[in-house]
Amino acid sequence: MAGCVLAIDQGTTSSRAIVFGDDFHPISVGQQEFPQHFPKSGWVEHSPADIWTSTLRVCREALEKAPSGGADVAAIGITNQRETTLVWDRSTGEPVYNAIVWQDRRTADFCAKLRSEGREGVFSAKTGLLLDPYFSGTKIAWILDNVDGVRERAERGELAFGTVDTWLIWQLTGGKVHATDATNASRTLIYNIHENKWDEELCKLLNIPQNLLPEVKDSADDFGVTDTELFGRAIPILGVAGDQQAATVGQACFKPGMVKSTYGTGCFALMNTGSKPVRSNNRMLTTIAYRLNGETTYALEGSIFVAGAAVQWLRDGLGLIESAGDTQSLAEQADPNQDVYLVPAFVGLGAPYWDAEARGALFGLTRNTGPKEIARAVLQSVGYQTSDLVEAMRADWPEAEQPVLRVDGGMTASDWTMQFLADILGAPVDRPTVPETTALGAAWLAGSKAGVWPGAEAFSAEWKLEKRFEPRFQESERARLLAGWQDAVKRTRSTQD
Ligand code: G3P
Repeated sequence: MAGCVLAIDQGTTSSRAIVFGDDFHPISVGQQEFPQHFPKSGWVEHSPADIWTSTLRVCREALEKAPSGGADVAAIGITNQRETTLVWDRSTGEPVYNAIVWQDRRTADFCAKLRSEGREGVFSAKTGLLLDPYFSGTKIAWILDNVDGVRERAERGELAFGTVDTWLIWQLTGGKVHATDATNASRTLIYNIHENKWDEELCKLLNIPQNLLPEVKDSADDFGVTDTELFGRAIPILGVAGDQQAATVGQACFKPGMVKSTYGTGCFALMNTGSKPVRSNNRMLTTIAYRLNGETTYALEGSIFVAGAAVQWLRDGLGLIESAGDTQSLAEQADPNQDVYLVPAFVGLGAPYWDAEARGALFGLTRNTGPKEIARAVLQSVGYQTSDLVEAMRADWPEAEQPVLRVDGGMTASDWTMQFLADILGAPVDRPTVPETTALGAAWLAGSKAGVWPGAEAFSAEWKLEKRFEPRFQESERARLLAGWQDAVKRTRSTQD
């Protein structure tokens, strides 16, 4: 049982491909950023061609850099930015519109209208989600209703919808396979997570013809083989999961109660709840963590739209830093007597507030406030937002033990940020030795399905701690800081309900 696996991680700002060896460590990497398009305020789009060509390029790069040109690669696993919505022509493969990105807020009014008609209950009971523009369903409806001739073509069965995984599978297989996995389907707002099928009633409410939709498979399953033209041979695609679910797998959070939190563009915390879909009373999402051998494992998820993106804003928007790594050293020098709070609601607020209309704000500025205090506020905002999520999960599922948070993603390289996170959570934070947990999760799905990697138990035993951050704050200090944060959020929200 030995073999390498190629993991594709198609993210919001870059496409990456990593060849993992049979010791679960990366051997070679390809990475490419691609342009973001902001055609109007609150709109975010990607070019479908950029998503595909950047992915193809990084796959070739990673394979070329691997020993023997990647000849040992037994399978491909795909993980992807979730919810981002594409519609294309089944015969030509031509997209009918740009990809509408998960951050895009253009359907906020449509969601508000559905909410005012009392529809949120049925969507949330069946999908575990809320009526927010974040999810794919209202984005599909927007394309059908706003791009000329598209609804007619859809009714005639000429078009295909997919999230990014589906688009990549379609391209990789030369248009032969139109499929997704249960985790990606669970983010569309039209997938019934209890019955594991596309939901007729919800499709009708959003006026989405079911003939658009891909086949939904397990997360470790047969998704076809790559067109031989692409890599010189046919490689089977055997694993697919949305990036946050793949990170849950890569962090070996296989047992109920285990929690991981990933810090990329946004921050997404998932708590494994086992075979039980726990319904949230605190505006968390109920979602599919993975589906293996037809058995669904569920998770509670808290989704925050801006984490690493706030550091990008420091660099590109304010020009206060040259590279992301400068943020920590600035924050360390900040005046301890100033309580400056950033609420990074640049694209609204996600969990647990779900306020699409809120916009970012800074509080507590004085004449002495400078770049150092703002940098600290940026890093702390990540801790405060995670704390909101973990508190909500604790309330939703009190029987779960006090969680230890397993963290991954670019921001976790900052010890300062991770220490603050542990301090404000009042709980330990664990950083693993392999930081590429998202890609690793996709690789494990494919590698275990191919039979070249071991099952969940042996894989979990390989999870190694690099550093544990223990909480250090006195309870009174933690409570004081959290009260300040709550006050800042309250003043940022567009409604006070
Ligand atoms: O739900 C959106 C999420 O999947 C995006 O992740 O890593 O591309 O920011 P990332």
